[in-house]
Amino acid sequence: MNGGDYTFGDSGLAARRLALVAATFAKTTRQFLLTRAGVAPGFAIDLGCGPGFTTELIRATVGPARVLGVDISPAFVAAAAKRIADDRTRLLCADALDLPLEVIDADLIFARMLLTHLRDPLAAIDVWRGRLSERGALLLEEVDSIATEDPTLTAYLDLQREMLAANGTTLDVGPELDAGLREHPGLRSSSVAELSPPAAVAARMFAMNLETWRGRPEVAAAHGPEELSALATALERIAQGEVEATITWRLRHLVLTHD
Ligand SMILES: C[S@@+](CC[C@H](N)C(=O)[O-])C[C@H]1O[C@@H](n2cnc3c(N)ncnc32)[C@H](O)[C@@H]1O
Repeated sequence: MNGGDYTFGDSGLAARRLALVAATFAKTTRQFLLTRAGVAPGFAIDLGCGPGFTTELIRATVGPARVLGVDISPAFVAAAAKRIADDRTRLLCADALDLPLEVIDADLIFARMLLTHLRDPLAAIDVWRGRLSERGALLLEEVDSIATEDPTLTAYLDLQREMLAANGTTLDVGPELDAGLREHPGLRSSSVAELSPPAAVAARMFAMNLETWRGRPEVAAAHGPEELSALATALERIAQGEVEATITWRLRHLVLTHD
């Protein structure tokens, strides 16, 4: 299966952005885990764990006996290992679509904002269901939509959608998942959680991400440096609180089981 490039990078800047993502989405993700993960699973896997913020959240929220964080980036896996590895927390550098055979019988598999980076998200879901224990659950958290009337935030989101589309992936992957899984025998629930973080925080995350991928050839081919710099400056003004704006994420929460 073809994973797709991970376009958001794994530099120190990308890791700091994920720390901000973690702080922004922690409450929503914690609530999802608390209501859907079951108590104290034996073995939990965090797919696309990045520098380990979601792995940490799983550990603190549902208290698995063992947890494995998996990511394709050696830099992120090293950062996660340094911060959170212990006798019940392991980190593995691997492609989530090509997991070692011994990564099996998980009572919980969790992935946040990973399917948005994969070219065939529905096929990935079936691969992961095959790694669940008989009573295990696959919990997925992805963007359904991001709504704002602010022209700068809208311009950034349009550019990000365009960049991801050029790589065969989708920012707002939630509706595709919801529609594609509606008749799936393994689907246990599909719901949406809404949150409206401060626009300054959203703009900070966006500015960090823009800095990471603005030099990619598919972006530079369609957008000149002046346009990209103007967007970066406008995002910075929102991040500094100089411009008022609002923004709302709808996050798709999906739960699937083995059968
Ligand atoms: C948007 S980040 C989310 C990180 C973490 N789940 C969180 O919410 O903080 C997506 C992560 O998926 C990883 N990734 C992308 N493609 C992958 C693949 N095929 N297998 C494993 N990890 C992958 C990236 O390296 C990155 O760390």
